[in-house]
Amino acid sequence: MTTTPARATLGASAFTTSTLGLGCMGMSDLYGPADEAESIATIHAALDAGVTLLDTGDFYGMGHNELLIHEALRGRKREDVEISVKFGAQRAPGGSWIGYDASPAATKTALAYTLRRLRTDYIDVYRPARLDPNVPIEETVGAIAELVEAGYVRHIGLSEVGAETLRRAAAVHPISDLQIEYSLISRGLESEVLPAARSLGIGVTAYGVLSRGLLSGHWSSNREVNAADFRGHSPRFQGENLTHNLNLVEALRAIAEAKGATVAQIAIAWVASRGSDIVPLVGARRRERLAEALGSLEVTLGPADLAAIEAAVPAGAAAGERYAAAQMAHLDSEH
Ligand SMILES: NC(=O)c1ccc[n+]([C@@H]2O[C@H](COP(=O)([O-])OP(=O)(O)OC[C@H]3O[C@@H](n4cnc5c(N)ncnc54)[C@H](OP(=O)(O)O)[C@@H]3O)[C@@H](O)[C@H]2O)c1
Repeated sequence: MTTTPARATLGASAFTTSTLGLGCMGMSDLYGPADEAESIATIHAALDAGVTLLDTGDFYGMGHNELLIHEALRGRKREDVEISVKFGAQRAPGGSWIGYDASPAATKTALAYTLRRLRTDYIDVYRPARLDPNVPIEETVGAIAELVEAGYVRHIGLSEVGAETLRRAAAVHPISDLQIEYSLISRGLESEVLPAARSLGIGVTAYGVLSRGLLSGHWSSNREVNAADFRGHSPRFQGENLTHNLNLVEALRAIAEAKGATVAQIAIAWVASRGSDIVPLVGARRRERLAEALGSLEVTLGPADLAAIEAAVPAGAAAGERYAAAQMAHLDSEH
């Protein structure tokens, strides 16, 4: 039996969605080859289980991810799904990352293409993937606010920005949620960014809750990663860092087994336990993984469990940064 996720209401603009979201990125990009039919079956299984939040970016597979979601939503009612889209990341035809453009013109153009690919007339949450260092956040949010006014966008979100950017953005238009990495081993937001979001009435959609598979209990040091896989160059997946981090996973496994749960379920439930204003996104791209993630909804972590988890994986326990240095530089949330 599977528990249906409850509903969460995020931000002053009252974005209402499921308490667990499905991140679709790995179905098109960054984690090596994915099976299209299985990806669509996974989206169907998520929707059927009551997971209504689908997260994507126009640059995930350069449009592929949005076309895939369109395919998966054929025959479904648009209003039964919330689609969250990131834009702004620029990519060359070969897939290389060539900067960010969140200027008003680029913002509007990107949305026009996104609406066509998704064959829809509105996006539930639209957000720049990163702060564009050349464009004041007021201009980007102002442009999205015009799209809200015109009915093309329902809510404005942000991604990986810091406290000051949150304040400046929220002064222009209500912000529904900040999308940011949050897991047992990525807790940098807790000191400043999360309190700022809370004081401004901004929710959080947390990504990387399994640290991109590292905290899933299924990763091993023998797993091969191809050149297109993010994990091939992520500091936490390399050499001694990986050995150290997998030891943390084993400490977590002992706690999970004692609770009759899996490591992934404990890791997801821990993020969910951080507050009702935090919705974990899981990057499942196979039905089997999704089913495991849904099982996290049945895991209740009491004070003793939380203390044991904290002791096994204290804040700052991971070896290696969450991104390689060049990508860390794009994270306003880390400055
Ligand atoms: N705003 C941003 O900057 C940003 C950045 C990254 C991601 N995101 C969004 O957040 C979503 C989730 O991020 P993510 O994919 O990095 O996070 P994740 O959920 O931490 O990692 C997903 C990876 O974990 C593996 N995994 C193992 N067991 C799993 C289970 N039971 N359920 C789900 N996955 C399991 C998957 O396995 P397999 O290898 O077996 O498929 C996949 O490789 C993305 O899809 C994307 O929409 C946003």
